[in-house]
Order: sequence, then structure tokens, then C-alpha cells
Amino acid sequence: MAIMTEARLDIVKLSQHIGAEVRGIDLRAKLDTEIIQAIRRAWLDHAVILFRGQDLAQEDLIRVTGFFGELGKLARPQEFFPKGYARLLPNIMMISNIRENGQTIGALPDGEMMFHHDMLHAEVPHDATLLYAVEVPTYGGDTLFASGVAAYETLDPAIRAKLEGRTAFHHYNYGSTQRGDDRGVAAFSESTHPVFRTHRETGRKAIYVNRLMTVGIVDLPQAESDALLNALFDHSERPEFVYAHVWRKGDLLVWDNRCSMHARTDFPSDQRRLLYRTTVMGQERPY
Ligand code: SIN
Repeated sequence: MAIMTEARLDIVKLSQHIGAEVRGIDLRAKLDTEIIQAIRRAWLDHAVILFRGQDLAQEDLIRVTGFFGELGKLARPQEFFPKGYARLLPNIMMISNIRENGQTIGALPDGEMMFHHDMLHAEVPHDATLLYAVEVPTYGGDTLFASGVAAYETLDPAIRAKLEGRTAFHHYNYGSTQRGDDRGVAAFSESTHPVFRTHRETGRKAIYVNRLMTVGIVDLPQAESDALLNALFDHSERPEFVYAHVWRKGDLLVWDNRCSMHARTDFPSDQRRLLYRTTVMGQERPY
């Protein structure tokens, strides 16, 4: 088994504001602490890191998740998840449109997904998400990542002044990929967090609301809140802040939910898509 001891990483930026590919690392190898620290540093610097050409067993994914913190727990008990979860190690999530006997085996199966921060609906949202591609369609199903930091730093100062120090209310119906009138369903979660989040480790501020989950700015009239949120969503999703990841089998992405949000493009429903997802626990209520 190869042992990597050289802490210099080969890092190639993926877009102007977000994302970097880390090259030349086999994540099945035993990596020393220096390398793991350098990988972690690259993740903090770029918010999204990509490893191509990996051949990971579920155990490897769990071990690599540990580079970034404590393995996140699934938001709901196992019985709420599709049947395919029985094949997974605890706390791995299966994202898939594959159907067996007419039933989906994984979560978030089909089509486009609006921009969101994973677990924003929780009181202590998870810091990171890892997503590993096992099967991908020939086109579509790209995951788009937007830098909340670049969006915050270029935000209209008048809007920023209005919203600095305010909190926003979030509502999420588990499994939903589009914004809808999903109030009243049994399985949902709600939270209130700052509109702009300060990152505990980098000290940078990022826009921390999204089109899929954020319902309103606390203590503002609904019309004013809607107008400000729409301005924030439109600004945060501007193409220059976004990296669009076109998946290949064997890709592993690791992203930081504290300072980035992500979305998914549509893909052919008759082509198989299967990814394994883990998360890293958060350590504090956002501030
Ligand atoms: C997710 O938002 O966790 C899923 C992203 C994807 O399926 O590309």
C-alpha cells in the first residue's frame, strides 16, 4: 500500500471563485497527517475540492469523511429512507434515480434541484458534504456550486446594510428538490439562522440563504422580505460565482456548506445515476 509523505498537493482551480481539483492522490492509500491537513486546507481555501478517478468502497468514504470532522448522522431514522439504504453502512446516504420493482432505491431521485445548503433546516447544520459518483448519466445531472463569499463581497452595499445582523427563517420538506407550497407535510424541519454567516475557521462571511429553503427575513414585512430575498438569490446565483461540475464515475467532491450552496441540473430519467453521500457534523449554531 502506497504511503504518501509529501505534503505539497497538486491543486488546480476549477473556476474563478470556487472549487479546486486535488490531483495525484489515491484516497484508498494510507495518507499521513501532513497530507490530510493539506487536503483540509485546500477545502477551506476553495470551498469545494474534487478528486477524480477514485475507486472507493463505502468504508473508504467513511474514513475520508473523517479527514474533515465527525461523520454526520442522517437527518431521519433509517425507516424513512428508500429500500436501497439497507445496503449501506450507517450514515451513508444514497442519491439515485434507480428503481427496483417500481420503487426508487435512493433519495433525491429525479431531475433538477434548486440551490440550497445541505441541512440548513437544522439547528446546527452539517459543515461539509462528500459525494462520490458510482454511476452517472451520459449528460446532465451536473452539480452547480456557488460561492457565498464572492456573492457577499460583491453584494450591493445598500442591501448588505439592510440585512447585516438579521436572521432568516428556513423550511424544508425532506426530499423536495423544488420550492413549493410544502407547508403542512408531516416530514419537515425548520430553522432560523443569520442571513450572513461567519465561517468559524476562515473568518470569512458568506450569504447564507437559498432559493429552495429560505422562507422569510425575520421581523420584516413579507413583501419587503420577498424583495430582498429575491435580490439575494439572483445575485448569489450569478454565473460568475458558480462552478458547474460535470460528473465522471469515480469523482469524489467535498464541499463546505458554511460558505457555498449547490444545485443540480436536469438529466435523462431513463439513465442511471447513483452517488453515495456523507456529511460532517457542524460544531456550532451559525453566527
Ligand atoms: C444534493 O444536493 O445533495 C444532491 C446533489 C446531486 O444529486 O448532484
